[in-house]
Amino acid sequence: MSIERTQEPSVRWGVVGTGHIARKFVSDLEHVPDAEVVAVASRFEVSARGFAHDFGVERCYEGYEALADDDGIDAVYVSTLAPLHHRDTLAQLRAGHPVLCEKPFAINATEADEMIAEARARDLFLMEAMWSRFLPTWVLLRSLLAEGAIGEVRAVDAEFGFVADRDLSARLFEPEKGGGALIDLGVYPCSLASMCLGQPATISATGTLGPDGVDEQSAVTLGYPEGRFATLKAAITTELSNSARITGSEGSVKLPAFFHQADALTLRTSDGRAQMDRPRLGNGLHYQVEEVHRCLREGRTESTVMPLDESREVIATLDAARAEIGLVYPTER
Ligand SMILES: NC(=O)c1ccc[n+]([C@@H]2O[C@H](COP(=O)([O-])OP(=O)(O)OC[C@H]3O[C@@H](n4cnc5c(N)ncnc54)[C@H](OP(=O)(O)O)[C@@H]3O)[C@@H](O)[C@H]2O)c1
Repeated sequence: MSIERTQEPSVRWGVVGTGHIARKFVSDLEHVPDAEVVAVASRFEVSARGFAHDFGVERCYEGYEALADDDGIDAVYVSTLAPLHHRDTLAQLRAGHPVLCEKPFAINATEADEMIAEARARDLFLMEAMWSRFLPTWVLLRSLLAEGAIGEVRAVDAEFGFVADRDLSARLFEPEKGGGALIDLGVYPCSLASMCLGQPATISATGTLGPDGVDEQSAVTLGYPEGRFATLKAAITTELSNSARITGSEGSVKLPAFFHQADALTLRTSDGRAQMDRPRLGNGLHYQVEEVHRCLREGRTESTVMPLDESREVIATLDAARAEIGLVYPTER
C-alpha cells in the first residue's frame, strides 16, 4: 500500500535588513523544507543584491518600503536594529504582512504596545524572534517544569555577558543602535525568568553606564509572590558564566553556557543527576520558523510559546530596570 503525502505549499519569506543575524537566519532555513526566501530589502541596493546572490533570493529591493509593497510574501522577518523594530514591523503589518521581529521586541513597552495593537487590529500574526524558546533544550525544560520534575519553581538565576569586541560588535556600544547589555543580552535571562516564573511583582536593578552612554553591566532582581525570585545579569565588557539555573522545591535544572543556545541540560533531584542532550541543528534559528509556519497554517495570529503579552511584559520589566540605572535611548528623549 502506498502512502500519499500531501505537500504543504512553501511559506514565502521576505527579509528586512541584511546584517549579521539576517544571514544566520536565512542559512538556517535550509532546515525548514517548506520555507522559501523570495525577497530581501536593504537600505542599500548593493547589500540587497549581495544578499540575494549569496542565498539565491529571487527579488531584492533598495528600501524596506518596496518589500512592504510586494504582495507575493507570506511572512516577513524584521532583522534590523532594536530601535527600528517598531517602525519596520509597523510598516510590514500595515502592508498586510505577518511579522517575525528580532529580539528585543522593541526599545520600550510603549512601542511594543503599538506593534501588538496594529497586529491585533489587522488580525495578523506577530511574534518576537525569541528563538531560544523553541530550541529542543528549552522545549525539554518546559516539559520538565510542567511535569513537576523539580517541584515548585522557586528561583531563576541566569547571566549572559562577554567582553565584546568594540570593532566587531560596535552596535552594542552605540545608544542610537539600541546598545548596552541590558536590553540586547539581558532580554534572554529576562525572558527565561518570565517563562519559568511569570510576571514579577518587584523589579530592582543596578548597572554602570560606560563612556558611550549605555550600560556595560547590569544586574536585575525580580521578586514574585511567596518569596520566589530571579537574579539576572548582563554585560558587554565582562565575561559572565553565561549559564542558567532554575531551582525548584525538589531539584534544579542547569542550562550550561551559553544557556540561550544550550544543547544539553542537567536535571538534579533526590534521585541523582542526569544530563540530557538535545543538540540543535545548525545555529538553531529555524525552530522558531517552524512555529511561525504552524501558526500561519492553523490561522493563529499569535504563538502560545512566545505570546505577545509576554514579550510586552519582558520589555516592561527591562524598562523598569533601565529607569533604575538611568539608561534612556535617544529616541526616548
Ligand atoms: N537571535 C540572535 O541570536 C541574535 C543575534 C544577534 C543579533 N540579534 C538581534 O538582531 C538585530 C540586528 O542585529 P545584527 O547583529 O544583525 O546587527 P547588524 O549586523 O548591525 O545588522 C543590522 C541591520 O539593520 C539595518 N539598519 C537599518 N538602519 C541602520 C542603521 N542606521 N545603521 C545600521 N544598520 C541599520 C541594516 O540592514 P541594511 O543595511 O540591509 O538596511 C543592518 O544590516 C538586533 O535586534 C539584535 O539584538 C539577534
